[in-house]
Amino acid sequence: TDRYAVIGHPVAHSKSPLIHAAFAAQTQQVLSYTRLEAPLDGFIDSAAEFFVMGGNGLNVTVPFKEQAYAFANVLTERAELAGAVNTLWLDDEGVVGDNTDGAGLVRDLQRHLSLAGLRILLLGAGGAARGVIGPLLDEEPGQLLIANRSAAKAVALAEQFDEPDLLQGCGLNELPAQSFDLIINATSASLAGDSLPLPATVWQADGLVYDMMYGKQETAFLRQAAAAGVQCRLDGLGMLVEQAAEAFFLWRGVRPDTAPVLAELRAGL
Ligand code: ATR
Repeated sequence: TDRYAVIGHPVAHSKSPLIHAAFAAQTQQVLSYTRLEAPLDGFIDSAAEFFVMGGNGLNVTVPFKEQAYAFANVLTERAELAGAVNTLWLDDEGVVGDNTDGAGLVRDLQRHLSLAGLRILLLGAGGAARGVIGPLLDEEPGQLLIANRSAAKAVALAEQFDEPDLLQGCGLNELPAQSFDLIINATSASLAGDSLPLPATVWQADGLVYDMMYGKQETAFLRQAAAAGVQCRLDGLGMLVEQAAEAFFLWRGVRPDTAPVLAELRAGL
């Protein structure tokens, strides 16, 4: 049987085994998909052993995505841009590293709107933000502004992508007096239940807000947007399922139907 796993620390909470089992059943693929908890200082040993023992592919989660980037023998262009890897598999050239997070976000967003020409505000400048910038730019938005608590990090991140007219970085406290069609929260503030210090001008009642975090209750950021009158609010559960579908497609060559799997996960939160 072909063997896959999600590697992380901790990994007990990961929904990836559930998602991939559902994809496999739906597409009649025979495979196993398990959880692999690597010691915090043992990612490379664990991942290498998995492949030596005949494993076919790994999904990589917190806190190993940057180490997986270093571990891969070959990187896809989008993994290179993201500086992080969430999907590994073996081919003739060795271990290939890809990053499906940004594609997963874009696919989830596209279920609701087209990104072409939109004014997009991306909140945060850490790994989660970096992973989605390339795929967002590919959709040809009208503007992509990265705003971060530490302004210097947002400016430096924007400068890595050579698109000065389209893509800029600034501090959360330096936002221009304008609204955005789409606001994406890629900070970890929602983890702590914190809302963000945003001026009232950023919100658009008919715009869309997206939090990469998710939970049983609406996240702090989505509640903040609701209070500002934004009707269309999405959390990151859809991105989780879509990034998995993209990895499944890379491994198996078959694209699963994500809608029923998302509904099942939502019901189980
Ligand atoms: P990740 O990989 O999830 O992106 P990270 O690289 O540690 O994690 O980045 C966390 C992001 O959340 C950063 O953009 C951080 O802002 P700073 O760079 O200024 O630290 C942001 N963040 C975390 N907690 C926040 C809070 N309470 N308010 C605003 N931004 C916050």
